[in-house]
Amino acid sequence: MKKMKAVLIGAGDRGARAYAPYAKNYPHELEIVAVAEKNPERRAIFAKEHSLTEQQCYNSWEEMFTHDIEADVAIICTMDREHHDPTIQAIEKGYHVLLEKPMSPDPEECISMTKTAEKHQKLLTICHVLRYTPFWQTIKEIIDRGDIGDIVSIQLNENVEVMHMSHSFVRGNWNNSDESSPMILQKSCHDMDILMYLMDQKCKYVSSFGSLMHFKKENAPENGPLRCLDGCPIENECIFHAGKYYLGEGRGWARKFTTADTREGVIEALNTTDYGKCVYRSNNNVVDHQVVNLEFENGATATFSMCGFTREQTRIVQIMGTKGEIRGKMDENTISVYDFQTKNDSVIHLAKPTSGHGGGDEAIVRDFLNGVRNYGEKKESRSSATVSLESHLLAFSAEASRLQNGKVIELERFSDEVLMKKG
Ligand SMILES: NC(=O)c1ccc[n+]([C@@H]2O[C@H](COP(=O)([O-])OP(=O)(O)OC[C@H]3O[C@@H](n4cnc5c(N)ncnc54)[C@H](O)[C@@H]3O)[C@@H](O)[C@H]2O)c1
Repeated sequence: MKKMKAVLIGAGDRGARAYAPYAKNYPHELEIVAVAEKNPERRAIFAKEHSLTEQQCYNSWEEMFTHDIEADVAIICTMDREHHDPTIQAIEKGYHVLLEKPMSPDPEECISMTKTAEKHQKLLTICHVLRYTPFWQTIKEIIDRGDIGDIVSIQLNENVEVMHMSHSFVRGNWNNSDESSPMILQKSCHDMDILMYLMDQKCKYVSSFGSLMHFKKENAPENGPLRCLDGCPIENECIFHAGKYYLGEGRGWARKFTTADTREGVIEALNTTDYGKCVYRSNNNVVDHQVVNLEFENGATATFSMCGFTREQTRIVQIMGTKGEIRGKMDENTISVYDFQTKNDSVIHLAKPTSGHGGGDEAIVRDFLNGVRNYGEKKESRSSATVSLESHLLAFSAEASRLQNGKVIELERFSDEVLMKKG
């Protein structure tokens, strides 16, 4: 098996913690030969972990690409709005690319990346990691075997979990769609993608409702400070109090905004970063709940509901076919398949995943590297840009519907308009 060489762009949470560990765990398969990371502390930690010299470290992808680094692949894990330019340049430099989702908050950029990969004959795989998990793969196999007949309808719930909601989508990186992406793209493009994967049909019509109901100024405590640590009058009853949370049960989340591992270090970060702000006085604008209705070409339907106010972080699915029904709960890794004729209910308990996102974080790297090794025999991966573009267009159209009070959008027309704009 040929060992692959990779350059990593963005050694943040995903780059350093989700994908680069593959090189540590399987050094005979993957070696990171250079890193581009803006944050000097993160860059130094990453260099140490992967034994990189100073010459192998760059302050930015822009600087990295002024050099000709010998590598097979580029792994790109910068933030949502910084995916397009490094991806185009990486492909033009001759690398196959593993790119974090969402591809881009701009549909035209999604198309441009897809076309560039096609033109240069490079594999561009988008990190729709759920497609690579045993949980969704098992469900897909059951459907493809015909065990439940033809799918009539799917219900998919994305339970974000209330503290995760406050951390990532009220205080954190993805709280403002003007700076990152709307929730349906950032968080739920996975779900749009999974619905397309399971249904295996073109989607015809989309409508969506949703809003930011709770995390806004109107709900802030009277005379409360901007930062929780500055003497909040409702400190004792507010579950979102930053000090109580990040110094207590949310300590694990604190590593997303500070490398410090002392209480003093976390407090310092709460006094200086957005993670110490009152959840009702943040700069957030993304929805805290959203529903989407879909109708597919063969008449089958799907409903999707994302909500921030849930006790656990999971996805729950119910797939109703003409011969039976599948129910699955992702955090428990259980799938039940009910047969209408025999009335048998077979319950599958999958093994506990060993990497993040139900095992998808590791499995996607393995699949991508295999795809690169065998590129030519097959030019697409399970989540390559062509496939991912379709589910991104679904997310864009759902957002367009939500912004027009649930107006029904005809997906083909919506996609044609985007494609025409791009030329
Ligand atoms: N696949 C998934 O399920 C999943 C889950 C979470 C996040 N994401 C996506 O992953 C991406 C990264 O998220 P994250 O949580 O790792 O964010 P992060 O902020 O922790 O990491 C991004 C890193 O990019 C670096 N960076 C910024 N500009 C740069 C430049 N010009 N050159 C080099 N480095 C630069 C930043 O310093 C930062 O360390 C986002 O697009 C996010 O939406 C995907």
